[in-house]
Amino acid sequence: MSMSEDPLYQEAVGRFADVISEAKQLPLQDPTVMALATVGTDGQPSVRMVLMRGFDERGPNFFTNAGSRKGQELVKNPKAAVCFHWEPLLKQVRVEGPVEALSDEECDAYWNSRPRESRIGAWASDQSQPLDARQTLEDRVAMFDAKFPGDEIPRPEFWRGFRIIPHRIEFWASKPARLHDREVYDLGENGWTYSRLYP
Ligand SMILES: Cc1cc2nc3c(=O)[nH]c(=O)nc-3n(C[C@H](O)[C@H](O)[C@H](O)COP(=O)(O)O)c2cc1C
Repeated sequence: MSMSEDPLYQEAVGRFADVISEAKQLPLQDPTVMALATVGTDGQPSVRMVLMRGFDERGPNFFTNAGSRKGQELVKNPKAAVCFHWEPLLKQVRVEGPVEALSDEECDAYWNSRPRESRIGAWASDQSQPLDARQTLEDRVAMFDAKFPGDEIPRPEFWRGFRIIPHRIEFWASKPARLHDREVYDLGENGWTYSRLYP
């Protein structure tokens, strides 16, 4: 049995799917937004919001510019942690683990589903690099808009998806008197374990 076939892991993935579908029923603009933490080679963590674009039993994924700060940190140190919080649900979910790049096919499929202006914007943005003036960005948008006039816009090599392979998943649920529930699924040397933590 592979680690991902472990019934405890399957249970965690099922619970994750349930909370995501609960969140998607709320009137939220971005029910799958998550804080993504990466760590630089100097040990300095950095965190920013990104959108989870999909997930399956292999883990949650997101898309970004691989040359960005997060992208460079992930290349050098392919580990990440994400944290979701849905205030109306009084729930938090944390996922940690190694990160892998999505295949070209997966990146192309998602890229081609994006609106044209998002794809032009991705070409125009040298994400996380210094920008002298907003006008420079707008000029670059106009330049790529002219370069790719139709709807056929190739995916830039630097625009990629990443998957967090869960090695730890925590479900947190608010309870009265701050006696919150914390349930952790953790991948150890002998497979997945389940435990509760003090709040
Ligand atoms: C709600 C929200 C969703 C976002 N989604 C993404 C995303 O999916 N991918 C991305 O690269 N940046 C996304 N961003 C922008 C990032 O927060 C961040 O500014 C950018 O990726 C640069 O981060 P870095 O310099 O740490 O690499 C989002 C921001 C917000 C507020």
